[in-house]
Amino acid sequence: MIRYKRLGYLALNVTDLDRSTQFYRETVGLQQVGGDGVSVRYLRCSDKHHDIALYVGKPGLKRVGLELESAAQVEPLRQVLREAGRDVVNISAVDRTAMHTGPGVRTWEPVSGCTFDFYAGMEGADAVPFEPTVAKIQRLGHLVLRSADQPATVRYFTEVLNFKVSDSIDGAVTFMRCFPNPFHHSLGISNGKGRNGLHHLNFMVSDADDIGTSMWRLKKLDVPIVNGPGRHLPSGSMFLYFLDPDGLTVEYSFGMEEFAEEGAREPRTLPPVSKSFDLWEGPVDPRKAAVGEIERSQPAAQTV
Ligand SMILES: [Fe+2]
Repeated sequence: MIRYKRLGYLALNVTDLDRSTQFYRETVGLQQVGGDGVSVRYLRCSDKHHDIALYVGKPGLKRVGLELESAAQVEPLRQVLREAGRDVVNISAVDRTAMHTGPGVRTWEPVSGCTFDFYAGMEGADAVPFEPTVAKIQRLGHLVLRSADQPATVRYFTEVLNFKVSDSIDGAVTFMRCFPNPFHHSLGISNGKGRNGLHHLNFMVSDADDIGTSMWRLKKLDVPIVNGPGRHLPSGSMFLYFLDPDGLTVEYSFGMEEFAEEGAREPRTLPPVSKSFDLWEGPVDPRKAAVGEIERSQPAAQTV
């Protein structure tokens, strides 16, 4: 029974590091950590070293970092991954130093090949505490992956990795929490209809007004708003989706159902109708979730 603390970080590939760093810092409202490195930029919205790492590549997802509850989870996790026949390696010392993370293992989601690092702890940043700016961001909330075989990806996370399903929209998307993290979902798996990819990434904000003020602020900046404001039926979140400079879909959301570790309600399967996605039934721009490659990294030759 693997136990998690939280969705740790997302490593994104972008085409122009300067442009995207500026966007995530000034338009989204993250704090840049460290300087303008040539190969990677770190940004955060928490007291950890970083929540987002930007690299140069085909726009999309490079890697997902999930923080384990403690270092005691590392070996049991390695064991369940091996028993499931999955490649698993230690996160290298070089990567641990770069990402400021504790010990952990790297593995690859079986359908999309997406790289997942599971680690114990991330150092805090030495810099000043995170202070929200343009939006009162509380945390990196979740990501949604598109899977070419959605049921298989959901089985992998639930049966091997002990994620818990909170709700599904039938045939479209399944929302899961990284147990015992209370939030309705830290990870969603959408039906990619034959395609793998990054669907969107999310930042949770602390105030409903952040959704409304961000809508007008982003409009003034000519940032494309592709869905919302609206309200998700499954989690109860109020949402606003917009595009980053490469067309990656970013979401602000306010409010989310939380689950106790014991006695959680049963997951629901909602019908695939517009109200299940958005109680307010607003229009959806076709550019939503249209961009988002998943980088395929080769497993190391020697598993350890
Ligand atoms: Fe979302």
